[in-house]
Amino acid sequence: MKLGVVILAAGKGTRMRSALPKVLHPLAGRPLLRHVLDAAEALGAARICCVYGHGGDQVPNTLADANCTWVEQSERLGTGHAVLQAMPSMAGMDRILVLYGDVPLIEAETLNRLVADSNGSALGLISMRLDDPSGYGRIVRDKRGHVLRIVEQKDASEAELGIQEINTGIIVADATRMNDWLQHIGNDNVQGEYYLTDVIGLATAQDIEVVTIQPEAPQEVAGVNDRLQLAELERYHQRRLVETLMLQGTTVLDPARLDIRGTLICERDVTLDVNLIIEGRVRLGANVRIGPNCLLKDCDIGAGTEVFANSVIEDAQVGAGARIGPFARLRPQAQIGDHCHIGNFVEVKKSRIAEGTKVNHLSYIGDTELGRQVNIGAGTITCNYDGANKHQTIIGDGAFIGSNTALVAPVEVGEQATIGAGSVISRDAPAGKLSLTRAPQQTIDTWQRPRKPD
Ligand code: UD1
Ligand code: CA
Repeated sequence: MKLGVVILAAGKGTRMRSALPKVLHPLAGRPLLRHVLDAAEALGAARICCVYGHGGDQVPNTLADANCTWVEQSERLGTGHAVLQAMPSMAGMDRILVLYGDVPLIEAETLNRLVADSNGSALGLISMRLDDPSGYGRIVRDKRGHVLRIVEQKDASEAELGIQEINTGIIVADATRMNDWLQHIGNDNVQGEYYLTDVIGLATAQDIEVVTIQPEAPQEVAGVNDRLQLAELERYHQRRLVETLMLQGTTVLDPARLDIRGTLICERDVTLDVNLIIEGRVRLGANVRIGPNCLLKDCDIGAGTEVFANSVIEDAQVGAGARIGPFARLRPQAQIGDHCHIGNFVEVKKSRIAEGTKVNHLSYIGDTELGRQVNIGAGTITCNYDGANKHQTIIGDGAFIGSNTALVAPVEVGEQATIGAGSVISRDAPAGKLSLTRAPQQTIDTWQRPRKPD
């Protein structure tokens, strides 16, 4: 069976009050539409087509890497009209599943159940009972409980408005019949739109039994219309991610104050303090502890390492048993070895720091190869940029760099070399020797502090 998925994403999203098309607003760091595309792929869809409209090419451009075809619906004439635009690109498909770009949390599991349960019929849909069904299309059933049709809120009679079973909008249908039904729906209704929901009435008129299933959780079929609803779904989604993480053996001190906007893999007994943000792909080794207020993006942190409060780590690797922060910043291509200490107000970029080296206070290390067991004194910086080009600093094993040293790259400091505090090192410093640049200290015996006149 070849399953084609049509994702409707042509809505204006007026209530978002945004220049960004609604389906591009992020949930857990990814556009709403990306979540729906992922669900469609997880289903094993043979083809996916997105119907876009509002916002011009911004939607297909942003999601250019998605494995789908894009069809523009230039006039928004209704959900039935929208699906019809996608039908030519669904040629050869056996069944068509309709999803929505602004209903991001639909689970592939639920969709699989819809597809499987409706296997024997030409039409299946996801419905749900709501205490307050207002705004939704209502599922009208006959006395025996068989679905007859769907009536939209605006077209419903007083009695129909009392129906609590609503249409979530997600339907699956035989492709050939869907094509046929879509040709036959009209727009003679209060909104003057071509309603996709009218295919249900057309199907039952042909004695086709409509299969309905319900979602596991209402949030799966909840649409995003404004930023309040977006935030609600974000919280729900984050809660679920955090619950999974905790059940897998991670301590999260406050499940409400961890946001995973990407993928977080934790080995055993990791502890995460409050206000942690995860972006991209992050892996934390066993017994890693992350302090409060940290941002970790695309990084790998080795077992037993502790990251203290207010540290930012991006596109970097940290070995095992290291201590990072508080207030440390590891920038792209920082590679920190086992048992290193990177202390407060230290910034590391595109540098390799070998095992056991300490950079504890107020330093900038950029474009540097730092050996093992090096001590970098407080306030030391690499001057890696001459205004036009970046240059390399190399520091050998066991070197000791005195406080407030400026290492003017390209420059090399040999193994076991010592640099006197306050030096400006612009020539290579030989191994095992003391190098320093320092004006001699003077004392002016005759000097007196200026005084205010009496
Ligand atoms: C639709 C259903 C309703 C259901 C509800 C669930 C119809 C006629 N009604 O109503 O039964 O209870 O969803 O939320 O289908 N869209 C397009 N192009 C269009 C029109 C809509 O892409 O021409 C997209 C919108 O961007 C949106 C989705 O289709 O994502 C639903 O459209 P909307 O007008 O919001 O439908 P509802 O009135 O909510
Ligand atoms: Ca509408």
